[in-house]
Amino acid sequence: MNRFQDKVVIVTGAGSGIGRATALAFAREGAKVVVADIIDADGRETLALIEAAKGNAIYTSVDVGKVESVNALINGTVAAFGKLDVMVSNAGILDSFSFCADTTDEVWKRVIDVNLSGCFYGARAALPHLAKTKGSIVMTASVAGLGAMAGGTAYTASKYGVAGLINQIACECAAQGVRVNGIAPGAIRTNISRDLKNTEGVVEWAIKTTPLGRFGEPEEIAKPILFLASDDASFITGTLLRVDGGWRSK
Ligand SMILES: NC(=O)c1ccc[n+]([C@@H]2O[C@H](COP(=O)([O-])OP(=O)(O)OC[C@H]3O[C@@H](n4cnc5c(N)ncnc54)[C@H](O)[C@@H]3O)[C@@H](O)[C@H]2O)c1
Repeated sequence: MNRFQDKVVIVTGAGSGIGRATALAFAREGAKVVVADIIDADGRETLALIEAAKGNAIYTSVDVGKVESVNALINGTVAAFGKLDVMVSNAGILDSFSFCADTTDEVWKRVIDVNLSGCFYGARAALPHLAKTKGSIVMTASVAGLGAMAGGTAYTASKYGVAGLINQIACECAAQGVRVNGIAPGAIRTNISRDLKNTEGVVEWAIKTTPLGRFGEPEEIAKPILFLASDDASFITGTLLRVDGGWRSK
């Protein structure tokens, strides 16, 4: 399939996990992909993987928690490719599963900045360009944005915020032909917990909590992201699609 031939697609957090799988999948379907991440070495590795597969991409360094950085990403993309068709706001961080009383100001601020403000900054800067292409936005939320105890306090609050952004912005910009949707992954095998402490037993807990009885793979999130961004989803906006092996069905 070549659903994204010559479409210009930004994927944040594309240096690893879900973002990398998503960037590779868009490139396989003909998109010009802007691989964006805060860790340059990882982003460049994704770029190399796309180029090795004869895909079309560039790498841009970004900190989605900083408004100037996100604005530069969007402006740089339009300067390089002349347009923007799809904005995937995927970059995110965990919060060490800290409960409210143990959440420091620093953790609270950074998790909200990256996970929630990052999606807002991306949407605000992308919308004028997406209105011209009748493009779409896909945000990576989480099952933590649909109920408690799938993350700590800051992470859960940030992902509830993303769910709210999706609904609100979808309604605001539908008249301009821009669709806004999100994915709510369950437990996916990525690097997101690589730097965390207090994760003992989390893997076993996640598997036990998931009716399908296993972690999902990043590619199993990339496929629904591409679906939501594609014309196959032309009548879908304001949807937060659970891809969680049944986690929130219980
Ligand atoms: N893995 C899961 O189980 C799971 C479940 C639900 C939701 N999610 C969400 O999926 C998204 C992707 O996470 P992942 O699991 O692939 O993790 P990951 O750690 O493998 O990838 C996240 C990427 O985002 C980048 N990143 C972090 N902070 C950034 C910033 N400020 N600016 C730009 N890039 C930044 C990282 O460098 C990394 O490359 C996140 O929003 C996460 O909250 C993951």
